[in-house]
Amino acid sequence: MEFENIIFKVEDGIATLTINRPKALNALNKATVEDIEKAVDYIAESKDIQVVIITGAGEKSFVAGADIKEMADYGPAESGKWAAYGAGVITKIEKLPQPVIAAVNGFALGGGCEISMAADFRYCSENAIFGQPEVGLGIIPGFGGTQRLARLVGLGMAKEIIYSSKNIKADEALRIGLVNKVVPQAELMPAAIKAAKKIMAQGPVAVQIAKKAINNGINADIITGLAFESNVFGLCFATADQKEGMKAFMEKRKPEFTGK
Ligand code: CAA
Repeated sequence: MEFENIIFKVEDGIATLTINRPKALNALNKATVEDIEKAVDYIAESKDIQVVIITGAGEKSFVAGADIKEMADYGPAESGKWAAYGAGVITKIEKLPQPVIAAVNGFALGGGCEISMAADFRYCSENAIFGQPEVGLGIIPGFGGTQRLARLVGLGMAKEIIYSSKNIKADEALRIGLVNKVVPQAELMPAAIKAAKKIMAQGPVAVQIAKKAINNGINADIITGLAFESNVFGLCFATADQKEGMKAFMEKRKPEFTGK
């Protein structure tokens, strides 16, 4: 696969997607979003990839938002189409069957914060800065920020962040639950890979089913979510991994999962 603005590699079951437009602080122009979509479509079909890590190139920025220069002259129709396209690609990330970790290595502003929020969870470097600065540009978040931020940090916190364009430093992001861990820059990728490996040691089918149950439930009422959970709980018992996982427990050994 050829890419212009991302670096994509798969190693030992972990796919790393690095957004790579350092001159523009990895801002998302159309070509970059198209590259991301191509990689995400590939990941969705892959049987070898078990966990995905999304990060940005360099030590300054994860993604500094959608490309302001590219969209500055858009009219309502073009910008609406752009937002729907970008939001659609970001939703594809959220819907990936595999767990996705965002390794946020610097600015995660606007579309950058929005990409990170489509991941299952976020680790960040000490210099990371999150924010949805769109109202300062006379627009609003358009790649899912008005929806996902409130689900992650609560309504009042999300409204304050979005209405005020305020920057959220790494320690505050940790405090409000936007990130799970803050580490020095040099330790970010090793920490994300460690988390990926911990996930990969579990039953792979069960991990993917758990992701589906959580994501379906968060968008439904609790009764619907619980019904989905008990159905797919039952489904786990049709897998070889369930037989192996429970047998290994009783035999006091580590399970050897096959992902079947
Ligand atoms: N779009 C296009 N170019 C961008 C960019 C963006 N979002 N962010 C940074 N760049 C470019 C700058 O224009 C600059 O390019 P030139 O050298 O050609 O001038 C280069 O990246 C380096 O940036 P700065 O010189 O500004 O670097 P800095 O360290 O002084 O500031 C920053 C860093 C605070 C992140 C600043 O660049 C900034 O505020 N960027 C914009 C952040 C933003 O508003 N993001 C939201 C975009 S809108 C959006 O994302 C909508 C949506 O929901 C889909």
